[in-house]
Amino acid sequence: MGSKKEVKTKEVTMEKLVSLCKRRGIVYQSSEIYGGMAGAWDYGPLGVKLKNNIRDYWWKEMTQLQDNIVGLDASIMMHPKVWEASGHVDSFTDPMVDCKECKARFRSDHIDLAAACPTCGAKDSFTEPRQFNMMFSTHLGPVAESGSIVYLRPETAQGIFANFKNVVQTSRVKIPFGIAQVGKAFRNEITTKNFIFRTVEFEQMEMQFFVKPGDDEKWFAYWKDSRIKYYGRLGIRKEKLKFHQHGSDELAHYAKDAFDIEYEFPMGWQELEGIHSRTDFDLSRHAEFSGKDLTYLDDQTHERYLPYVIETSAGLTRTVLMVLSDAYEEEELEGGDVRTVLHFHPELAPITVAVLPLVKKDGIKEIAEGIEKNLREDFSTFYDQSGAIGRRYRRMDEVGTPYCVTVDYDTKEDNTVTIRFRDSMEQERIPIEKLAERIRKANKEFRREQ
Ligand code: GAP
Repeated sequence: MGSKKEVKTKEVTMEKLVSLCKRRGIVYQSSEIYGGMAGAWDYGPLGVKLKNNIRDYWWKEMTQLQDNIVGLDASIMMHPKVWEASGHVDSFTDPMVDCKECKARFRSDHIDLAAACPTCGAKDSFTEPRQFNMMFSTHLGPVAESGSIVYLRPETAQGIFANFKNVVQTSRVKIPFGIAQVGKAFRNEITTKNFIFRTVEFEQMEMQFFVKPGDDEKWFAYWKDSRIKYYGRLGIRKEKLKFHQHGSDELAHYAKDAFDIEYEFPMGWQELEGIHSRTDFDLSRHAEFSGKDLTYLDDQTHERYLPYVIETSAGLTRTVLMVLSDAYEEEELEGGDVRTVLHFHPELAPITVAVLPLVKKDGIKEIAEGIEKNLREDFSTFYDQSGAIGRRYRRMDEVGTPYCVTVDYDTKEDNTVTIRFRDSMEQERIPIEKLAERIRKANKEFRREQ
């Protein structure tokens, strides 16, 4: 079965991740039976659990563990004026070129315009760069006329700004405070490659933190620090994370200052989350376009002002890719055996504990089934009685299950089981009634080997 003494690891590649995700029901290509659809992916039985666990971990961090952040769930389609006010109708564009020969379309900032077309090899075949709006639009109601146009939101943030007044009036929040939201966003991306990294439909986890003008730099520094520490708690390797400050040519139309948290994905360093200083840009524009007073009254100082905003904006689906990339390891064990293992943080793992009877007869199977049913109340469990125990362990390692419990003849005698730990591969013999407590303790003590 191999032991862990001398571990050599191999580099993770995108091909390996895509293949593992397909094989183990984590992520599938969208509409695969019809040949697939570019830029869209579906989350399978284990993938949806992983994604929901990441979402729940973020939600707990950003709402439950905070004194002053509340949640929201706004609709995807909003009044079209929202997107005029936010600047997206005018400014949410990418520069693009077409190849005149083969009609392929590229982002002009992603290719070398002096080189040949990457698709057909034609020379001097690109059109002049044109601005291309990335919002998807559709029509509300039965008549497709220009007055009925609506957009699929390209960011969740605007639902928060549009509800700022509602939240202030109905939830007793006082500045500084935040509003958090998780949900789908849509962008007509020209370049969709690298698996779930950049897709046309994706999920964001965003938090807008409203502060007094003048306090914004202090809070910007606070959230930068807080967000990088969060990834440390998730067990992400430190050397794979870094900040990148936006230069003036990179800043979004709403931002005064911005830092990306970048992760070293298999294809290189790329943005994972943005921390943006948005000033009062959004609230002042919504006040102007809606004609509503969106100022905040400080009931202590009696000052009235439009708050400034610090935003933290992370991609949920992109975080799934980051967590998979960071967790993936192929370990060459003593004796030449190789195991693929996902070193997920236990709270993110799709399955927390697998229960595996060593034999099916003499009542062992029934005991194992009973243990698994009892653990269900508190943990995500999996029961597997088929195949050699070594192969069952490998199957669980490959989907990142942190704990396997084996049930054998001794269990019948003394009510003990063996718990095996994914990362160290060490085993402990413990009483059945101590299992839940042992798992909780190990969850708390989890540290990713750096
Ligand atoms: N509200 C601010 C905002 O939307 P952004 O930098 O455009 O800022 C924030 O997006 C995050 O959303 C990114 O850091 C990334 O994680 C995720 N994201 C953006 N576009 C994406 C796409 N096409 N596919 C997957 N995730 C995307």
